[in-house]
Amino acid sequence: MTASISALLLDWYDRNARDLPWRNPPGCALPDDPAWPYRVWLSEVMLQQTTVAAVKPYFAKFTATWPTVEALAAAPEDAVMAAWAGLGYYSRARNLVKCARAVTVLGGFPAREAELRQLPGLGDYTAAAIAAIAFGQRAVVVDANVERVVARLFALDEPLPAARRAIRNAADTITPDIRAGDFAQAMMDLGAHVCTSRAPRCLLCPLSEACLGRKAGEPERLPVKPARKTVPERRGTAFWITRNGGTEVWLVTRPASGMLGGMRALPDDGWTARADGSGQTPFAGEWRSLGAVRHGFTHAALTLGVLALETASNPEGDGTWWPVAGIGDAGLATLFAKAAQLALAAD
Ligand code: ADE
Repeated sequence: MTASISALLLDWYDRNARDLPWRNPPGCALPDDPAWPYRVWLSEVMLQQTTVAAVKPYFAKFTATWPTVEALAAAPEDAVMAAWAGLGYYSRARNLVKCARAVTVLGGFPAREAELRQLPGLGDYTAAAIAAIAFGQRAVVVDANVERVVARLFALDEPLPAARRAIRNAADTITPDIRAGDFAQAMMDLGAHVCTSRAPRCLLCPLSEACLGRKAGEPERLPVKPARKTVPERRGTAFWITRNGGTEVWLVTRPASGMLGGMRALPDDGWTARADGSGQTPFAGEWRSLGAVRHGFTHAALTLGVLALETASNPEGDGTWWPVAGIGDAGLATLFAKAAQLALAAD
């Protein structure tokens, strides 16, 4: 049955593959383009924890600005951080530059999964995905979509994360030796559009006859998820400090380590003060409260109060006066872009 599963899936993929800017059409030889592994790597890093729709414009911008891994390796880190702004999980952007530089020193991406795994920022998933998609190597590629498909296909009802080993082993048994990249992406597409988390479309599924989860009833129950942890609430204050009649705003670069490290940002209080505007301000003055914005990180939910002040002098510490009219080009992370929007709406 395992051989027929990959055959059924690849046949389905030939008819239903999504047309994506980083993708080779199904069944085609790998492109004869030196930048091909770079494009696969870039897309896979961007797609971690991020939707295809959100990634598309970033992928277009990055490949237009830095068409090769060597071009990205030569880019200043702050330019890459600014281009990444809005995509989230910023450690990915820092590792992106490190990895591009390491690959350039090596003279290109290694083709083997074990060597890919040694590169900065590449975990099991990304190394396997690049080996399979960029180089056609057989590799067991398991992301959250694939995890769901496999847990249902084999009716694996051990809860996550303990189930991961069994899921990977089961995925290994259905991974073919040929068309490794197509198979991996077929599994991803099936998980994204047919074997969906809620209300799976079993009637459209090429694997429904073989699916033990479906036979057992309630495939949507699988994989069994661990109980949800509640994330801690944090509060803080950001400062919208302007000069010259509100035409320029003071921006800082966050320390390299820590949340949103290395990103351009509004100054803030370290997220320890009160979101109602009664926290510590960087200096005394007639601060105006503009309200607050909310932002969800993986490990915390943040309410950020925004205080505004027009001043004639430079705030203490490193920073830069940025034209408010060009704030969209500052490369602010989403949290601070929300705060800036609040300030602009208040003017
Ligand atoms: N998610 C992660 N990698 C992907 C890919 N190559 N195609 C579609 N979705 C993905």
